[in-house]
Amino acid sequence: KILILDFGSQYTQLIARAVREANVYCEILPFNKLFAIDETVKGIILSGSPFSVNDGDAPVVNIPSFVQKTPVLGVCYGAQLTAKEYGGKVEKSNKREYGRAKLHKQIEDDVLLADVEDDSQVWMSHSDTITQLPEGFELLATTASIPVAAFRNTNEKYPLYGIQFHAEVYHSAEGKKIIKNFLVNICGCKQNWTPASFIHETVDALKKQIGDAHVIMALSGGVDSTVAATLISKAIGERLHGIFVDNGVLRKDEFESVLETYKNIGLNVTGIDAKQNFYDALKDKTDPEAKRKAIGKLFIDVFQEEAAKIPEAKFLGQGTIYPDVIESVSVHGPSVTIKSHHNVGGLPEKMHLSLVEPLRFLFKDEVRKVGLELGIPSDMINRHPFPGPGLAIRILSDITEEKVKLLQQADDIFIKSLKEYNLYNKVWQAAAILLPVKSVGVMGDERTYEYTVALRAVTSVDGMTADWAHLPYDFLAHVSNEIINGVRGINRVVYDISSKPPATIEWE
Ligand code: XMP
Repeated sequence: KILILDFGSQYTQLIARAVREANVYCEILPFNKLFAIDETVKGIILSGSPFSVNDGDAPVVNIPSFVQKTPVLGVCYGAQLTAKEYGGKVEKSNKREYGRAKLHKQIEDDVLLADVEDDSQVWMSHSDTITQLPEGFELLATTASIPVAAFRNTNEKYPLYGIQFHAEVYHSAEGKKIIKNFLVNICGCKQNWTPASFIHETVDALKKQIGDAHVIMALSGGVDSTVAATLISKAIGERLHGIFVDNGVLRKDEFESVLETYKNIGLNVTGIDAKQNFYDALKDKTDPEAKRKAIGKLFIDVFQEEAAKIPEAKFLGQGTIYPDVIESVSVHGPSVTIKSHHNVGGLPEKMHLSLVEPLRFLFKDEVRKVGLELGIPSDMINRHPFPGPGLAIRILSDITEEKVKLLQQADDIFIKSLKEYNLYNKVWQAAAILLPVKSVGVMGDERTYEYTVALRAVTSVDGMTADWAHLPYDFLAHVSNEIINGVRGINRVVYDISSKPPATIEWE
């Protein structure tokens, strides 16, 4: 594996994904975490950072000790830190270099930049710059605005490289090639980390971990829990007991269709209809956080009641993925809670179960690839994210069964139309929101006084920031018509044109 030491850069996860895309396994560690460089570590990559190496409290690591054991590549801050530790000079440059630049190669036969065009476009994002290389270091490339864009030092036991640009971002035209050169030709990694090899190794590991015990798991109908359950099921078959709860705020027909899919995949899943309990718990609740708490708490109760029927279970399966567990280097202090996201966290301590988390080291796109390799239908794999509290946070104000039915119909029309118009996979998430607002309309000769629905569709990479999707007018016209003509109780449809930030994706 490759270790990526994180100094707090916004691009660290992109480095990891670029390494994984080259079919090499890697892990991200905070720079200040102790770790061993054993024979499984084939190389180390040092990330960028919002710090300057000249700051008094700048994060540091012992690079000379690393290169006694393995090759090292410093990226941006990582390169500057390398230069500085070996006696080079890093200075504040007059202007920040941000955006595209062209690489001018200085040495033809270097392995890192092998087969990279002279003049290749790279992406820069830095304000400090290396003004003088340490003794014994060789210059590999410059750009029009900086003297050192890439360097190497081959005098240590293992090679040491530095690049000022961000090879991991899309705008570095040959960045993937450079990363691959490092992984394969410098670190000697084999490119054998594929969805198929992951499945094979994971199923073996699950068999060892679980032995002849039983596993219980809450499924949500989402990608992560479905893929995790399928892996566990491949390892232990019917000894996986999945539980899928109808909390009354799922999408239209979702309970039935998701259970049907589970059955087709061959998962042992029990569906629990707890709709009425949830409606009772939600009655008269209008505050978004109160709704989330009520749903989260009742969910745990329902799950525990079902779990009690399977006393042989020793493990709890979960669809945790890598971005949930990466230890981040906090450079901005603790962040405030904007919305509490209740998933199934908090279950294990109470229930004395050990965790089984087969996706703990996968990024979302890798989960999807593994899912497809496992033969899970692509409809299921490419589903939009859907919040745990479901339609409850898309019905503003209090929740009743009637409102849920209204929203389910409008939402169903919206989502089906997105698929029909080939737009579903172009947006990251889409939702219909039922507003607690009635307005006057006219149908035929009759006056109506009914609810308003807002349509929300966004493009995003990770849900942290999002732009409203610029859906075609004729599509919006179609959806509006279908909803107003087809759903009795809704006489007005509006489209949400707010980005996140400052708005959020959900309305509550
Ligand atoms: P916001 O509204 O915060 O949403 O921009 C970002 C992403 O998180 C989802 N979301 C939730 N997911 N429980 C969940 O499991 C929640 O309480 C919750 N609130 C928001 C939202 O759907 C979007 O994908």
